[in-house]
Amino acid sequence: MQDFEKLGVFYLGKSFDLPARKRTDRLVLYESKDLVTHAVCVGMTGSGKTGLCLSILEEAAIDGIPCIAIDPKGDISNLLLTFPQLRGEDFAPWVNESDAQRAGVSVSDFASQQAEKWKRGLADWGQDGTRIQRLKDAADFAVYTPGSNAGISLSILKSFDAPSETIREDAELFRERIATTATSLLGLLGIEGDPVQSREHILLSAILGAAWKDGKDLDLGAMIQQIQSPPMTRVGVMDIESFFPSKDRFALAMRLNNLLASPGFESWMTGEPLDVASMLYTPAGKPRIAIVSIAHLSDAERMFFVSLLLNEILGWVRAQPGTTSLRALLYMDEIFGYFPPVANPPSKQPLLTLLKQARAFGFGVMLATQNPVDLDYKGLANAGTWFIGRLQTERDKARLIDGLEGASSGAGKLFDRQQFDRMLSSLQQRVFLMNNVHDDEPEIFESRWALSYLRGPLTKQQIKTLMEPRKNASSAVSSQAGAKMEANTSAKSGARPVLPPQIRESFLPLRSTQPDGAALVYRPALLGCGKVYFRDTKTNTDTAQEVCSIAPLVSGPAPVNFEKAESVDLNIDDLETSPAPNASFSELPSAAAQPKNYDAWKKSFADVLFRTQKIELYRSPSLGEVSRAGESERDFRVRLQQRAREERDAFAETLRKKYAPKIAVLEERLRRAKQAAQREQEQASQSTWQAAMTVGASILGAFMGRKTVSAANIGRAATAARGMGRTWKERSDVARAEETIGAVESQIAELDAQFKAETDALAMRIDPATETFEKTIIRPKKTDITVNMLTLAWAPYWESDSGAEAAWQ
Ligand SMILES: Nc1ncnc2c1ncn2[C@@H]1O[C@H](COP(=O)(O)OP(=O)(O)OP(=O)(O)O)[C@@H](O)[C@H]1O
Ligand SMILES: [Mg+2]
Repeated sequence: MQDFEKLGVFYLGKSFDLPARKRTDRLVLYESKDLVTHAVCVGMTGSGKTGLCLSILEEAAIDGIPCIAIDPKGDISNLLLTFPQLRGEDFAPWVNESDAQRAGVSVSDFASQQAEKWKRGLADWGQDGTRIQRLKDAADFAVYTPGSNAGISLSILKSFDAPSETIREDAELFRERIATTATSLLGLLGIEGDPVQSREHILLSAILGAAWKDGKDLDLGAMIQQIQSPPMTRVGVMDIESFFPSKDRFALAMRLNNLLASPGFESWMTGEPLDVASMLYTPAGKPRIAIVSIAHLSDAERMFFVSLLLNEILGWVRAQPGTTSLRALLYMDEIFGYFPPVANPPSKQPLLTLLKQARAFGFGVMLATQNPVDLDYKGLANAGTWFIGRLQTERDKARLIDGLEGASSGAGKLFDRQQFDRMLSSLQQRVFLMNNVHDDEPEIFESRWALSYLRGPLTKQQIKTLMEPRKNASSAVSSQAGAKMEANTSAKSGARPVLPPQIRESFLPLRSTQPDGAALVYRPALLGCGKVYFRDTKTNTDTAQEVCSIAPLVSGPAPVNFEKAESVDLNIDDLETSPAPNASFSELPSAAAQPKNYDAWKKSFADVLFRTQKIELYRSPSLGEVSRAGESERDFRVRLQQRAREERDAFAETLRKKYAPKIAVLEERLRRAKQAAQREQEQASQSTWQAAMTVGASILGAFMGRKTVSAANIGRAATAARGMGRTWKERSDVARAEETIGAVESQIAELDAQFKAETDALAMRIDPATETFEKTIIRPKKTDITVNMLTLAWAPYWESDSGAEAAWQ
């Protein structure tokens, strides 16, 4: 098995001999990069779709490919039930009590039986606990539960933020993003919003569009406020009041407000932000299988969330560099209702766009469903691989064959309807027909035994048990980074002080809404903004960073301490020239009213920048590559992993090209040898050569897959082989014939060994996911620092009896 794991091929199972109704020894391997053209898995209930798809996710994880798996039923979480030691006590907490009862044994006995069953099942497929351990080590596995804190909860707070520039610059994508966000939000409110007809939809879209086009974020609170007083006076050619009168708008705003205020909704607003990059990779850059469980949600909530998630995924995908290797996966089981042929739910558009565009970015989508009618045919034409299991009805079968025919003709291939019909009619559980547009012909196979314990759907409580240990670990971190509350230390506040005209004043923007009972107070501070250049020829660094820092001004002999300055995420353009209304001002230290002090402070600020500014770069010793300025360790590791994968895939391709003609020659020789032997010895029915080893049965053959004979460069090889055949005819000796078969067999074995040696070389390579990086620190020269601005800045705070909270963050 290990030989393939290095080469980016997934172990799906073994080929299945339909007429004989049994599986053969031939491994069925699937090239990971074929998944960038997406896969669809169809089959009736119990046909083994989820088992197959989870096994594919296991293979992907072993290969370091992260995945977001949307789980409407609860059984994808089974991927967390991995027990390398395969002991009964590992299984015990997860077996079904009712199953044990039915079997008439105690839970612990039943668990031992299940463990034994899994051990045997795995062994039957050439797998064991070591491979389970490898799976566990290769990736992080987590269950996310939006709208609930059973697993890791996900906050949708940021989902109304302006989409990234890549999306905003693409008019069509931007329009789609607005429309699907509006539709999904209205769906949650129970309003069926037709994008063209419904005024609710038109208004929400206009509000989202107006904010987002300038890169402004919205939250639900702001949305409520803007529904009541929209930022525009007209919609199309109509005056907003006649199009959607204010009392009706108020009713819509109230509905949204009630949703926000409803007791359950709070859990949607807490937890980790819905951020695709952080779901796909841990902070250390380890790939993650992120299972998003939505079984506990209502239909409207599911649709709402799935649409938001798909939009986020689309945004992330579009920001990735192009590649032909698989980078990440989206898996959605039970796609029913999300991707229908006729209706237009908000999940459909982003999914369709993903199917059409994601391949260029190495992002594969895998969809599973019981019924082919659940799937939009336009999307299906974009699926490169089909896994078809046993189907329920003749109609389902006919429909599928139609779809397949469409997909093959799209790929410019001949299609034999009857052949497919015959094959599909005789499939049994876990036996699938794989039709991969990258292969020459379809393949029937039985899915391998899953490494994870497929116990069936997990309840919310079980997910909680499963995720409890890691949530405890991560909550310790998040409470440290929790909301910043400061003690109410400000001196008595009053009116805005009057200052000499040489002193420039600016106001930090107000970025949060007023908490109940809090008053707005501006506190004085110094704001310094500068530019720092970092140049280093050794690491090829030439980059500039804008820095803005703010240091509070206090009364006393040392009114400002830049060492305590905090860097702020600000553009000079964000600064206001006047304060927000109804605010009061803290007392200004007298030093801050003397213009000459500012020149001195400017110098100290430059000095502080010189001493504190640095960039930290990571260097991979094995690849000699250095991270870019501002690139996190996670992003650097992820980038290197993808590069290694691209190189690996290219190497695999080279191997295929190299071995294809050699295999062709040997196969042809073998065929001729058998023919000749047969001619010579019709009577020798039990000859040894009937069991002759073919390339197909070798490891190399499995690696070559179903593409062996079609490679363009086979022609020449085959001619050579025919030449061989002629020489053969001249020898009419059975013994010789068998001898030659033996010789060809050993040549095949030799080729196989040669192939193995070449792939072993890959294993020596260092894995960028785990290697230790060297750190390089680059500091600026004194002359590489410019201070662009140093002014008195007023920072707004919400002050109340319980403390003060920065209002500009
Ligand atoms: N690869 C596998 N390894 C071990 N057991 C499997 C595998 N695939 C399927 N099974 C067994 O078969 C049962 C049914 O398979 P599975 O849940 O995959 O069907 P399905 O096609 O997803 O059905 P549904 O449409 O009802 O979800 C599983 O519960 C499991 O016990
Ligand atoms: Mg299933």
